[in-house]
Amino acid sequence: MANVCVIGAQWGDEGKGKVVDWLASRADVVVRFQGGHNAGHTLVVGDQTYKLSLLPSGLVRGKLGIIGNGVVIDPEALLGEIDRVSAQGLTVTPATLRIAENAALILPLHPALDRAREAARGEARIGTTGRGIGPAYEDKVARRAIRVCDLAEPETLSAKLDELLLHHNTLLRGLGAEPFTKDTLLAQLQSVAPRLLPFSEPVWERLADMRRAGRRILFEGAQAVMLDVDHGTYPFVTSSNTVAATAAAGAGIGPAAIGFVLGIAKAYTTRVGAGPFPTELHDATGHLLGERGHEFGTVTGRPRRCGWFDAALVRQAVKVGGIAGLALTKLDVLDGLPELKLCTGYRIGGTVLRHVPAGKAAQAAAVPQYEAIEGWMGSTRGARSWADLPAQAIKYVRRIEELVEAPVTLLSTSPERDDTILVRDPFEG
Ligand code: IMP
Repeated sequence: MANVCVIGAQWGDEGKGKVVDWLASRADVVVRFQGGHNAGHTLVVGDQTYKLSLLPSGLVRGKLGIIGNGVVIDPEALLGEIDRVSAQGLTVTPATLRIAENAALILPLHPALDRAREAARGEARIGTTGRGIGPAYEDKVARRAIRVCDLAEPETLSAKLDELLLHHNTLLRGLGAEPFTKDTLLAQLQSVAPRLLPFSEPVWERLADMRRAGRRILFEGAQAVMLDVDHGTYPFVTSSNTVAATAAAGAGIGPAAIGFVLGIAKAYTTRVGAGPFPTELHDATGHLLGERGHEFGTVTGRPRRCGWFDAALVRQAVKVGGIAGLALTKLDVLDGLPELKLCTGYRIGGTVLRHVPAGKAAQAAAVPQYEAIEGWMGSTRGARSWADLPAQAIKYVRRIEELVEAPVTLLSTSPERDDTILVRDPFEG
């Protein structure tokens, strides 16, 4: 029985929520391994709508949730989310949620620095979520982060705060932002410690035990391969590795445990924030995709940029992300469009590339090379078998499979959980 790792294959917001929810109902434990509360998805279960950012999706299905060491945790955001979902009737206790004791924390000075830097960048801004994700990962790598376990060690906490404040206040003052005082930060950490610490433990040990017992583990990625700090459209990326390989290091388990890697891709492309987007549409079709697909960011509410499916980009995500099968979502948004386009590569000057170039200027200059494919007039919405799909829609999916060099193992045809065509069960490996 394989474990499953779900990652985004484009620039995020591919509809991971629905797929993860569906898979979570078949898993024993759901593990977040990177990112923070920059992620967000909406889960609709019965008459309740849950908005999750940090909590692993399985909690909604009564499955154990684990926040791995690779996640950066804003304690206020996490506790706020726990309070919100608890008010909706979910049970979040140390019996249902475990948090890695060695996960790094996001403190109020991180979003302050994130926003001050973005303001200073002006036109060159990255378009971050402003949640302090980048500065928190920087502190982790610089070995000055405050981690969950430090909340139980007053002396460590005090010394680390001194080091953090020296670094951050210098930067904040330089950027014209308000510095922080030790008293404020200490008071905040002391107030969250009693609520946070009961959840913390060496989660690697629990995962090792569960693995030995043959439990099904679902690794829930956040963001997507093109936002990966190494493999994405740098510098317009997030500050963590989002590829499936990260699931091992970010949870404390060996790479062989990752299992089947399911990449999620929309049947078209969207992006929030700044950065290159070769297939972006600024015309009525782009507008239509945004309207029909309800393309507004879950976390920030920003309208998403929309464009044609970029097969060159997804092919690259398949290779570097280790994707064994794709879940294709939101096919129904394309219903009724007379002609669709698939990007197969990019022209940069006199050269045609089949991959996203690494350089910032080259990325900005990339002109998409398209092949056109006839659309379909019928509806794909709510389809639950291939027989329910118009023939042209099947052709579109098949062509995507060829171009990205990966099979579509799951097709989602509406936000409803059961409107899914399953080709292959990822848990079967
Ligand atoms: P950060 O992760 O807040 O530093 O933002 C860096 C970039 O990643 C920005 O372009 C964000 O819009 C993007 N980003 C971060 N999280 C998500 C997500 O969950 N979905 C889509 N884009 C995201």
